[in-house]
Amino acid sequence: MKQYKDFAFIYDELMNEVDYDGWVKYIEDIIKSENVKVQNILELACGTGNMTIPLTKKNYDIAAIDISEEMLSVAREKAEKEGVELVLLQQDLAELDFDIPNLDCILCACDGFNYITYDDDLEHVFKKSYELLKKDGLFIFDISSFYKLSTILGNNMYGENREEIAYMWQNYFDEEENLVEMELAFFIKDEDGKFERFEEVHQQRAYTQEEIIDLLKVAGFEHIKTYADFTFESPSGEDERIFFVCKKVL
Ligand SMILES: C[S@@+](CC[C@H](N)C(=O)[O-])C[C@H]1O[C@@H](n2cnc3c(N)ncnc32)[C@H](O)[C@@H]1O
Repeated sequence: MKQYKDFAFIYDELMNEVDYDGWVKYIEDIIKSENVKVQNILELACGTGNMTIPLTKKNYDIAAIDISEEMLSVAREKAEKEGVELVLLQQDLAELDFDIPNLDCILCACDGFNYITYDDDLEHVFKKSYELLKKDGLFIFDISSFYKLSTILGNNMYGENREEIAYMWQNYFDEEENLVEMELAFFIKDEDGKFERFEEVHQQRAYTQEEIIDLLKVAGFEHIKTYADFTFESPSGEDERIFFVCKKVL
């Protein structure tokens, strides 16, 4: 499936309204609330480094992983421009293989885990994360909620027509597999003012909060909290993003 290939080079432009500084602050607020000292972080599905770069600037030691060479190349280019050194690894999380243990924190921001569509693969990521964390280490991630993927994205179509980029985005939700397939068509203006078209098909799995908690427990996590949409409130059922905060308590 073609995911995050050509799209990588316009990802940041399409995400320009996302408040990544606020996101970093929220993650730091969570860390503070858990009373854990965090110095090193393993970031999963880091994409173009929108969390990796600001966190590195705040002096955390980060290694970051993503499957897409294109997303990583954008991250590398941005880091170079900003004079920041990143440790980036290309890997499929379904085969996550990292062997520096005693980590303070493992982070996955902006629904990277929804791209892991099989239970067994997500269980592998959770087990490996548990194994890699130090005692009291934190595993923090968010998912797009079941409600968002099944109802808001659902079988709906979206589109946007900007000056330099236009796109059409048609979703199909498979109620048996709980998978949303997103057919994305992009039109990018070139130097001559002509629009070039490319397509990608993305697939995300809609997990319920209970399914995620069950897999986390299988992996060994006992101390699990869930928060709705950048708050410290419990999810209510109609939240779009659910944050999971897990502590490795031995
Ligand atoms: C929505 S983007 C989020 C990127 C970044 N965390 C951010 O906040 O901007 C999802 C990312 O997950 C990555 N991804 C999807 N499937 C993956 C897999 N199996 N292994 C590793 N990364 C994956 C994609 O390449 C993409 O960079």
